[in-house]
Amino acid sequence: MRIIQLSDVHLWRYSYNPFQLFNKRVVGTASLLAGRARRFQLERLEAVVDRIVDLQADHLLITGDLTTTALRTEFDDAREALARLLFDRSRATIIPGNHDRYTTHSVRRMSFETTFGEFAPSGPYPWLRRLDPWTAILGLDATRSHLSARGKLPEAHFARARDLLADPATRPRRLIIANHYPVVAPPVHAAELKFKRMINDREVADWLTTIGRHLYCCGHVHAAWAFRPASLPDQLSLNSGAPLLRDPSGLRPPGFLEIEMHDRDVSVLHHSWVRDGWEVRPLFQDPSFFAEPEVE
Ligand SMILES: [Fe+2]
Ligand SMILES: [Fe+2]
Repeated sequence: MRIIQLSDVHLWRYSYNPFQLFNKRVVGTASLLAGRARRFQLERLEAVVDRIVDLQADHLLITGDLTTTALRTEFDDAREALARLLFDRSRATIIPGNHDRYTTHSVRRMSFETTFGEFAPSGPYPWLRRLDPWTAILGLDATRSHLSARGKLPEAHFARARDLLADPATRPRRLIIANHYPVVAPPVHAAELKFKRMINDREVADWLTTIGRHLYCCGHVHAAWAFRPASLPDQLSLNSGAPLLRDPSGLRPPGFLEIEMHDRDVSVLHHSWVRDGWEVRPLFQDPSFFAEPEVE
């Protein structure tokens, strides 16, 4: 099973329609004008899509922030730009990020659901989506239509998530949690996460310590990583970073992750583009990350 994780594409469009600039969108558009256009290079998106098409993975997981200010036009642009990756709904899973719920208007209009809802099970979060007999994605949605970048996993999610994983006979052997928000970041990014974390991240972390070995696929902090947090020893935290980010520092190379799983083995590659070429960096490899199957 080979999965591509993509996140934080952040399609953006300038909007001069004053009726679309009410409330929060004024802030969003101002910040976009101030920096997004410089920071996210839309002209690279086609090359990113080409690269993912060439890799012919079994599944594509997109962990949110497809848009910047949740404008209808941004959703339409994102859907069109990613069309070559989204031809088969059984081979792609998409969860929202905070920017896809940027305004109450977009939430009321269900802009995310009408554009990308077909790439997730119908019904409320959290849900469990089986990819093969051993592998499943547990999808979470901690986004809020709120000025802050901080999320909150709704109280009702915890009980339902516990229910979905309660039966050892049906719990997926290779469990992937998909949530836009990281719970823990590597030390170099910890300060950034502090200001955009889930406000109940401790409660989420407490729950995660009870569910056994899992991959935790997130975005939100625009930096790629694969690490085992000391506070969550059963977790491999994976962030694919932002594929269009301009990275003058060289510390956050833009790209996406390729996650390969064979039996108990997990390996993670980061595909990033540097100037005009692609580089592939191995980020993680453990031949026995997932648990031994139960012996009958
Ligand atoms: Fe983002
Ligand atoms: Fe985000």
